[in-house]
Amino acid sequence: MSKVICVCGARPNFMKIAPIVKVLGRTDGVESRLVHTGQHYDERMSDLFFEQLHIPKPDINLDVGSLSHAAQTAEVMKRFEPVCLEERPDWVVVVGDVNSTLACALVAVKLGIRIAHVEAGLRSFDRAMPEEINRVLTDTISDQLFVTEPSGLDNLRREGVDDDRVHHVGNVMIDTLLACRERAAQSDIHQQLGLSAGSYALATLHRPSNVDDRATFAGILDALEAIGQDMPVMFPIHPRSRNNLESLGLRERVESMTNLRLIDPLGYLDFLKLMSDAAVVLTDSGGVQEETTIVNVPCLTLRENTERPVTITQGTNQLTGSDPKAILNAYQDIRQLPPSAASPPHLWDGHAAERIVAILTGTTCRTTAEVSK
Ligand code: UD1
Ligand code: UDP
Repeated sequence: MSKVICVCGARPNFMKIAPIVKVLGRTDGVESRLVHTGQHYDERMSDLFFEQLHIPKPDINLDVGSLSHAAQTAEVMKRFEPVCLEERPDWVVVVGDVNSTLACALVAVKLGIRIAHVEAGLRSFDRAMPEEINRVLTDTISDQLFVTEPSGLDNLRREGVDDDRVHHVGNVMIDTLLACRERAAQSDIHQQLGLSAGSYALATLHRPSNVDDRATFAGILDALEAIGQDMPVMFPIHPRSRNNLESLGLRERVESMTNLRLIDPLGYLDFLKLMSDAAVVLTDSGGVQEETTIVNVPCLTLRENTERPVTITQGTNQLTGSDPKAILNAYQDIRQLPPSAASPPHLWDGHAAERIVAILTGTTCRTTAEVSK
């Protein structure tokens, strides 16, 4: 019998952990526990995803909440250590690149517990991004590294990681997308917002580099306003960005933009529907770059770099940076000639979690097809 603790904490972690928890649950000889660090805690940033993605209620919630980087990382560590001492797992599984990912990995490595990092090897080569620090450090201390795309293999090899520890398994976020596609198609979000397919843009923003600096955030809003002259822009707003609109004195400006529609963060199914039928997506999200590749919707990434280059070479993604002119030029170009995805990246086929669990447990787990028979 092996025991596995799965960790999640922030919104993008929930889509990634959901299929892993599901497959572990049906694998013989495995006992698993789910720990939520509480990094994200609003109903629309957390509970809604557990409900919609059918993730079991976490066994343990560390309830850390929002703090500075150091305090949040330290608080997760302080609260996760006793859990590991009590549970004595064989593996701790961490996903993605948020503070909770690194904090729990650090606790595990110091206790001699093996770590599996899912979504390993991605690199933006931009050390000003908090996530890049989390990625590099988590990979360094992990025992098994599960990679989504070829760039991850190259990066880890270049950093001297043993090939034996690196596994190209596909993308668990896409497992979730494919599993939810039919249910998302039933969403009535278009009726709720008075939209028809293909007639609107969808924007999401939350990177500190875009929303913490007034001039940068204001410039992006100018670009969204200009796009709004052409088609309505839906903007489900992340709590960091909503708070910053207020603190940077931009709230009134945004409220005066009639075709930029600020809405609360959406549940996964509504968001997937809105994204799948958008004319264009403008984002700085990591996950959304990958998802638009699969739903084949043009994506403008308002960043100078991406740790997910396969979304550019095989998908519909394009980097624009945050300069309003560059965003608008790219927007005009794709209005003239929308790009289409070449083919789904290798192994983004809905079975990544099955591959991960099989490797971790040394078992052969039943595939989704076998289970549904
Ligand atoms: C975090 C991750 C980022 C990820 C993003 C996904 C780190 C360093 N950053 O960024 O990699 O892309 O999540 O969404 O781990 N807040 C709320 N309610 C919540 C959660 C947050 O109001 O449920 C507000 C708080 O004011 C908080 C701010 O949002 O201070 C930022 O939250 P935090 O988790 O620190 O970082 P994110 O910007 O969400
Ligand atoms: N998402 C969502 N509702 C929203 C915005 C995003 O369900 O209003 C989903 C999106 O489909 C993707 C994930 O949240 O699965 C991405 O999370 P986020 O952008 O917060 O983090 P990142 O991927 O940048 O780390």
